Amino acid sequence: MSLESLKNEAKEEIEKASSSQEILEIYSKYLGRKGLITELFSKMKDLDFEEKKRFGMELNSIKIFITEIKERKLSTIKEQTIHNNLEKLRIDSSLPGDCQNVGSLHPLTTVIDNIIEIFVGIGYTIFEGPEIESDYYNFEALNIPKDHPAREMQDSFYLSNDILLRTHTSPVQIRAMQSLKPPIRIIAPGKTYRRDAKDSRHSPVFHQVEGLTIGKKISFANLKGTLEYFAKSFFGEGCEIQFRPSYFPFTEPSAEVDIKCIFCEGKGCTICSHTGWLEVLGAGMVHPNVLRNVGYNPEEWQGFAFGMGPERLAMLKYSINDIRMFYDNDLRFIHSFINS
Ligand code: PHE
Repeated sequence: MSLESLKNEAKEEIEKASSSQEILEIYSKYLGRKGLITELFSKMKDLDFEEKKRFGMELNSIKIFITEIKERKLSTIKEQTIHNNLEKLRIDSSLPGDCQNVGSLHPLTTVIDNIIEIFVGIGYTIFEGPEIESDYYNFEALNIPKDHPAREMQDSFYLSNDILLRTHTSPVQIRAMQSLKPPIRIIAPGKTYRRDAKDSRHSPVFHQVEGLTIGKKISFANLKGTLEYFAKSFFGEGCEIQFRPSYFPFTEPSAEVDIKCIFCEGKGCTICSHTGWLEVLGAGMVHPNVLRNVGYNPEEWQGFAFGMGPERLAMLKYSINDIRMFYDNDLRFIHSFINS
């Protein structure tokens, strides 16, 4: 075979090759240690000087030529590979994305945040207390007598003789008065525990938001004004409230506060048991004994306190008829509160 055709053959083969591996194999077929062209170099020794020179130059130029073609082809393939890989990675921004579920706040969190926001807006600060309480804070300091039904083993979760899961957030009143200097305006949101069987209106764990104001010349009128402001902010301007005399050992006088039934607007329906009113919270003027228990002089300082259940408020606001909905974590329920 002539040198010229050998050269063309090598060139053609390399140009047809489609992988670096293939190119290197072809190259080695011609110019490897035992390659077709390499072998020709060894024939040079039989030639005379002039011939050797001419043949040598020719072989060298072929070697250079084929090596160049090999290099060029290798770099083309390399570029092609990079290009193909990039092509594979190309993002089509017009394709629909993977569906991402947007989370939402639990309706109770929203309601508690809402309550907090309203009171923070009129100068209250948040003060929290422990869920595991002593008998002293949960009952004794709150003027709750030894024979009070709430103290019964059947009604409270006792951890030991003296320690229990708080049955209300009122012990935070005591903790706040002990660690702050009057005047005081705090709200205490948190979990509370009672030995209630689960049903549509009861849960052994529920929430309360406690409020406490201590100041000079604080009267029942301040309590009324504050709660009226709260009710209108929470339920809307049209919301009306009424106070009904009640009894709590730690407030005197005590009251239960109702809002005009938002379902029948006071006309009477099954939800308000045909009374036209819905009970939403307990409240009253801080009992002098409670003030004395924390070393405050009732002649100098007075105050009011209130306690509300966010579950109850949320049930009324969003027409939820079963308290268990809050704790079952059915996503269909929770998702229906997105953006509420
Ligand atoms: N702690 C009372 C309850 O759990 C509510 C309350 C709080 C009443 C503060 C008066 C004042 O029912």
